[in-house]
This record gives sequence, C-alpha cells and structure tokens, in this order.
Amino acid sequence: MKKVLKWLGIILGGLVGLILLALVGVYFMSESRLNKTYNVQPERVTIPTDAAAVAEGKRLFATRGCMDCHKENGAGGDFIDDPLLGRINASNLTAGQGGVGGAFTDGDWVRAIRHGIDSSGKPLWVMPSEEFNGINDTDLGALIAYIKSLPPVDQEIAANSLGPLGRVLLVTDQIPVLPAEKINHEAPRPVAVEPGVTKEYGAYLAQTCSGCHGATLSGGPIPGVPAEPPYPANLTPEAETGLGKWTEQDFLVAIREGKRPDGSSLDPKQMPWPNFAQMSDEEISALWLYLQSVPAKPYGQR
Ligand code: HEC
Ligand code: HEC
Repeated sequence: MKKVLKWLGIILGGLVGLILLALVGVYFMSESRLNKTYNVQPERVTIPTDAAAVAEGKRLFATRGCMDCHKENGAGGDFIDDPLLGRINASNLTAGQGGVGGAFTDGDWVRAIRHGIDSSGKPLWVMPSEEFNGINDTDLGALIAYIKSLPPVDQEIAANSLGPLGRVLLVTDQIPVLPAEKINHEAPRPVAVEPGVTKEYGAYLAQTCSGCHGATLSGGPIPGVPAEPPYPANLTPEAETGLGKWTEQDFLVAIREGKRPDGSSLDPKQMPWPNFAQMSDEEISALWLYLQSVPAKPYGQR
C-alpha cells in the first residue's frame, strides 16, 4: 500500500512539475514575441488638410471599422477584459491626456495603421493592421487627416496584459494577438485599385469584413474572443447558410438598414452595419460582386 502511494506521489509530483515547466516556457516564448522590436521605415504618405479629405477620412473611420474599437470619439478604451485571456485596450488616438495624437509624427501613424507597430518599434496587440496594410495612400492620408482633426479627449488607457490562456493561445498561434507578425513589412506597395463597381475594388473593401467573418468569409465564432451569439454570418454564396439566395438589393438593405430578406434585424452591437451604412452605392455593389465571386463554403470554415 505504502509503495503504491509513494509511486502515485512521484507521478503526480512529476506531472505538476511538467505543467509548471510548460507554463514557464509559454511565458518566456510569449514575452519574446510581445517584446520583439521591429525596424520598419514607414512609407511616406501625404496627409491632406482640406475639409473634403477630412470628411472622407471621417467616413472611412466608420466604414473601415476603426470606430468599433477606438469608439466614435477616437478615445478608445476597454476592448477585451477577461481574467484568463487578458486585458487589451484600444488606444486613445486623440491629442488629449492619455492619447497618442499629441506626440505622433506622420510616420508614426503610417507605421501603426499599416504595419501594426508602435512608435518604439514594438508590435501593437490585436490592432488588425493586416486588414489595413493594403489601404492605399489616398484613403490612408484622409483617415490620418481625420484622426488628427479629432477634438482632444482626456482618457488614460490602462496598460495591456496577457493572461495565462491568452499566452497559451498566442504561443500555439490560435489567436491573432500580434498582427505585425503576419505582415511582410518589406513587401513593395500594392498598386492602388481603381474605385469602381469591380470585384477587385470589392476585395479591397472586404478586407474590413474578414476580421469578423474570417479569411474565407464563411463566418462562425471568432477564435479566442469571448462573445455571445449571434456569431458572424456566412457571406459566401453558399445556398443554405450563406448569401446564395440573396439578391444585390437584399445585400444593400442589410448594409443600409440592418435587415435580412426575411425582415429580421441584424444586431448592430455585433455587426456594425450602422457604420457600414455610410458606404456609397458603388462600394456596396463592388462588395457584392466580390462576395458573389468567392468560393462557396459551409458556415464556420473560417
Ligand atoms: C479590433 C479592434 C481594432 C480595430 C478595428 C482598429 N483598432 Fe487600432 N488599435 C486597437 C488596439 C487594441 C490598439 C492598442 C494596441 C496596443 O496597445 O498594443 C490599437 C492601436 C492603434 C494605433 C496605435 C496607437 C498607439 O498607442 O501606439 C493606431 C494609430 C490605431 N490603432 C489606429 C486605427 C485605425 C486608423 C483603425 C481603422 C483603420 C483602427 N485602429 C482599427 C484595436 C483596433
Ligand atoms: C465586428 C465584427 C463584424 C464586422 C467587422 C463585419 N461583420 Fe457582418 N456580421 C457580424 C455578425 C456578428 C453578424 C451576425 C449578426 C446577427 O445575426 O445579428 C454579421 C452579419 C452580416 C450579414 C448578414 C448575413 C446573414 O445571413 O444574416 C451581412 C450581409 C454582413 N454581416 C456583411 C458584412 C460586410 C459586407 C462586412 C464588411 C464591410 C461585415 N459584415 C463586417 C459581424 C461583423
């Protein structure tokens, strides 16, 4: 009996030791990725100052999804707050106290938005720059012009921290904590896509949809993000769960009024259609053309 207990103790002790060792490993591996320094020279982008560009930037701040996380006033705040995952806050972009606006150079804005890297060279957490890397100079210039015009808001932003589960998911690449890792920072700038009712322009605009609807646009719960249903829907042309039976008009009504063909409503807290409603007819038609052209997939094959 005593022998059995002794062996049991040894085995249990060994297991606890192994788990501790694994956790220490996870901690150091995640720290080295979170604290990596990137030496990225931001591209030169002309930042306009005219009222028309600032107004266009305001529209892009909504339609490109910045407002979802940085809030309407640009002052950011709590974004993810979960004891196991961690605490991640969207930056205050204004020039108020606790904001970056007062200190940022034009290059700092470009580096942060296109490359997901802060002014000290560290990767930004969860800021989805892989979706914004392709934004062309005209749109990016207008966006930055608008952000610089935001009235200062005094709001201190608490430091980010990653919990044990967040670290395990980072190390095993289950959640996109560090978008900077997914961007080729040396790649030559893509040729700007001409605005128009084309699939190509639709693909350019749909970069904003993939963060929630997934790279294949087939929807499903977002890995690692604690959220209640409704989950992002299937936007591929699949007939049963996707948009296969929708018309372009149905799509326009969904984006502009948040209503599905059967008259049910889209939850504006989960699907930010009131922001997307500011898209032009041309943009919505281009998006529709693109969505109809992607491979049909069953729901949830993100
Ligand atoms: C999914 C949420 C999300 C969206 C959408 C988003 N951001 Fe962010 N952004 C963040 C978070 C979180 C941070 C802070 C990251 C950190 O502290 O490491 C951040 C940081 C930034 C920074 C860097 C500020 C600093 O503290 O160095 C800039 C600039 C920025 N965002 C601009 C934008 C713009 C412009 C858009 C739209 C094109 C946008 N963001 C969309 C979440 C988001
Ligand atoms: C912040 C996350 C988020 C972003 C960004 C987002 N969506 Fe959604 N979307 C959702 C969620 C969640 C639902 C399900 C809402 C519901 O059922 O009430 C949804 C539903 C939809 C629907 C309804 C489909 C159906 O069958 O019910 C359409 C259409 C749609 N989104 C289009 C888009 C387009 C186009 C974009 C990009 C311009 C986009 N979404 C960006 C989260 C998002």
